[in-house]
Amino acid sequence: MSVLRLEGVRVAFGEHEVLRGIDLEVQPHEVVALIGASGSGKSTLLRAITLLQPIADGRILLGADDISDPRTDADAVRSRIGVVFQQFNLFPHLSVLENIALAPRVVHGVPRAEAADRALGLLDRIGLADRARSYPDRLSGGQQQRVAIARALASEPALLLLDEITSALDPELVGEVLELVRGLAADGTTILMATHEMAFARDVAHRVVFLDDGVIGEQGPAAEVLSAPRTPRARAFLARFTG
Ligand SMILES: Nc1ncnc2c1ncn2[C@@H]1O[C@H](COP(=O)(O)OP(=O)(O)OP(=O)(O)O)[C@@H](O)[C@H]1O
Ligand SMILES: [Mg+2]
Repeated sequence: MSVLRLEGVRVAFGEHEVLRGIDLEVQPHEVVALIGASGSGKSTLLRAITLLQPIADGRILLGADDISDPRTDADAVRSRIGVVFQQFNLFPHLSVLENIALAPRVVHGVPRAEAADRALGLLDRIGLADRARSYPDRLSGGQQQRVAIARALASEPALLLLDEITSALDPELVGEVLELVRGLAADGTTILMATHEMAFARDVAHRVVFLDDGVIGEQGPAAEVLSAPRTPRARAFLARFTG
């Protein structure tokens, strides 16, 4: 069974149809990169999956559950999806360790000591075990974004959604965050990520989905779509990234 399945998903803001019938599946352990011009609907799509964005039509299934059913408990759904945005939105008044341990403790009822233990394990994995007691404002942007990823993983989500997680970083900090994602992908984490990092998508994603003005313009194995796009629109978009 797929981890995620979108069927005919539509989103409109007033007269403006931003997603115009999206069909998309993500399989277990698959890494899917969502690419496309600014305004093509990537963030809207990710927000629809987290139920932050109501959809006008279609269905969204997480595992076997139709989460687009209006009776769905949105908080329960969000506890099964890890999300990291462009802006590292760590809780400023909580230490790094507490940021990571909070949801497992509060949402999933993991005992405090165990949640702290698991958070330390995650910090070790992202190379920041020595910063457990630091507050977010003492960390670099790259470190904060790595903590945000650890926090997203703390509840052992079925799916990790990443929305342009390196776009707000200074260029010299991008590498460490991408390295971490590369490691997660190698470990089999199921990831759907919107990205402008084409070299990274080519390297790490199994599949690339090109979003073009609210529809999927082209999709396929990363190497194929990125190196030899079949549609003129994808070719034109990708041409901007080759220097
Ligand atoms: N809350 C909103 N109200 C009205 N229009 C919106 C809203 N959110 C997004 N849009 C519009 O929806 C379209 C898609 O936006 P979206 O943020 O999904 O694009 P994107 O592909 O993520 O772009 P970027 O690469 O710049 O992040 C844009 O035209 C945007 O202006
Ligand atoms: Mg976006």
